[in-house]
Amino acid sequence: MIIRKIPSPWLVDQFALTYLSKRDELIKKSMPEADFVERVLELKPGMKILDMGCGEGRHAIELAKRGYQVTGVDISPALIKAASARAQQLGLEIDFRVDDIRKFYVQDEYDAVILMFVVLGDSGKDEDDFAILRNAYRSLKPGGKLLASFLNAARQFKRENVKFDLNTSTIRWSADVEINKILHHFTHPVRLYFPSEAQLLIKCSGFEVTGIFGDPFRGEEPIMRPVQPEDLEIIITARKLDSSK
Ligand SMILES: C[S@@+](CC[C@H](N)C(=O)[O-])C[C@H]1O[C@@H](n2cnc3c(N)ncnc32)[C@H](O)[C@@H]1O
Repeated sequence: MIIRKIPSPWLVDQFALTYLSKRDELIKKSMPEADFVERVLELKPGMKILDMGCGEGRHAIELAKRGYQVTGVDISPALIKAASARAQQLGLEIDFRVDDIRKFYVQDEYDAVILMFVVLGDSGKDEDDFAILRNAYRSLKPGGKLLASFLNAARQFKRENVKFDLNTSTIRWSADVEINKILHHFTHPVRLYFPSEAQLLIKCSGFEVTGIFGDPFRGEEPIMRPVQPEDLEIIITARKLDSSK
């Protein structure tokens, strides 16, 4: 086995494509997740949406099907290639781009920005999450809306089988992926957030927080309630103030 401690395993195509192999299970969740995004951000078809860290485009595609103008950005060329192929198959026009969301923004362009499922926290570095949120902020029109997902630190920090570093709120995430018949053990730190920390980061990035929800996607219908210790995900909605830049 080869041990690979690399900060961005997404740049290794085989790793990214293995993530894709779980696609059916993930795609099933995309529809209720898109329902929730539409409802909680009060979106109207025709609006422009930026999906940062879009992966294989499951939300971008679902939202484009519903009449939104969607841009999907991801650092993985393999995932963007797969996303573009699927959109083409479905006859959807989506602006998919390979780029690094720590640097990517388009000033005042979008009505809504979404950051779905472990995009924030993925590098384990606070400064990366702050840079991503600042770029989300810049990319929104004044009054534009954000929906951001964080992993809930409260669920993990006292678990027996989880090594939670209390000083950095990180855990080590690992996955074994076979590449050319050799097993590669990928491991990198992932940043988890306590609900108050996540809200503070959003506020420090310039936003006004408008809502906080724990695991709204668990049931068939979205559950709109505050975060509980056992929730996996924290979802925060926020707004760029009308007068701000
Ligand atoms: C756990 S996946 C989630 C993908 C998608 N949002 C979803 O819910 O299916 C995290 C994604 O973030 C992307 N990502 C991580 N760091 C990034 C960066 N700096 N710039 C662009 N994309 C990044 C990865 O390539 C990966 O597709």
